[in-house]
Amino acid sequence: MIKLSSKRRIIATVAATAAAGLAATGAMLFAGNASAAETLGASAAENGRYFGAAIAPNFLGEQAYADTLNAEFNSIVAENAMKWDATEPAQGQFNFSGGDELVAYAEEHGMAVRGHTLVWHAQQPAWAQGLTGQALHDAMTGHIEGVASHYQGKISSWDVVNEAFEWDGSRRQSNLQIQLGDGWIEDAFRAAEAADPDAKLCYNDYGTDGVNAKSDAIYDMVVDFQARGVPIDCVGFQTHLSSDSDLSSYQENLQRFADLGVDVEITELDVGGSGSAQAGVFRTVTEACLNVDRCTGITVWGITDKYSWRGEETPLLFDGNYQKKEAYTAVLEALNAA
Ligand code: G3I
Repeated sequence: MIKLSSKRRIIATVAATAAAGLAATGAMLFAGNASAAETLGASAAENGRYFGAAIAPNFLGEQAYADTLNAEFNSIVAENAMKWDATEPAQGQFNFSGGDELVAYAEEHGMAVRGHTLVWHAQQPAWAQGLTGQALHDAMTGHIEGVASHYQGKISSWDVVNEAFEWDGSRRQSNLQIQLGDGWIEDAFRAAEAADPDAKLCYNDYGTDGVNAKSDAIYDMVVDFQARGVPIDCVGFQTHLSSDSDLSSYQENLQRFADLGVDVEITELDVGGSGSAQAGVFRTVTEACLNVDRCTGITVWGITDKYSWRGEETPLLFDGNYQKKEAYTAVLEALNAA
């Protein structure tokens, strides 16, 4: 109980600071009944939510990148800088330079910070990939302890475990699964809880954009964790989409997780395509989050198409010249309509 209320306090403080910061940097409240914020972050804050972006520290020196970030977003997540390969290049020797830069930037600009990601089958350092059995287990928990305790009190929610399930709902046969068996996910959550009791602890995955075999398996895991007292506070829905993605059960899926008593977050939103088709998908996702009380915010996986991991699909809200796209307008309208 103490832990939960402390988690809520951190989020509330961050949201209030972020909202105040954005108000000072250009959010506008129109007189009369209707109000229309002028930026994504300000409008999300008016709805009690954050609007975030995945950030790479090496781009912060680019004026248009920083200007867009500062104007539009009130939460950030490291696109790569807090992953295992970046933060623990040699066992027990931590490198927090990129992550620290982002946390300091967020503090300076009144933004929240999501943590991504403590344990994942990809982007593991070479030394960890070669470990087996108990040595790998100790490396995993040692990594969580080292990183989550370093950032203790500064992270709104951690993606503790990323992408541990296959499309059919079975466990991904990663080195973690093969070496450690089914218990590794809960062991990771327990280690994260011990290291940072203030952060909300999320399971994060892609391909969970509706009620399907993969989201069913994650749902069952949350139910099981709750029944056995394994700490879990939130589920992240990456939401890497295309203009023709089927979103017929997207909101229903978010809602069924929320109904379990965990928060839901849209953690890596991007939509391949252009024009009104792309904008429509962004609008649907935004509206779904706003319609689910426990959907606490949306993070897009980058600011500009120029630096997107799927750049040739132009999946973000700002084009390569930082111009607002139709998709941007759709998201802002959806936020302001709520
Ligand atoms: O840092 C090195 C650099 O030193 C080197 O010169 C360069 C040469 O290619 O590579 C750089 O590392 C790249 C890194 O991004 C930083 O740019 C890696 O090769 C590249 O693999 C890595 O890709 C990242 C990918 O995760 C790795 O799986 C993407 O930027 C990042 O957007 C992506 O993010 C993931 C989420 O974490 C989880 N969900 C899916 C999402 C998209 O794949």
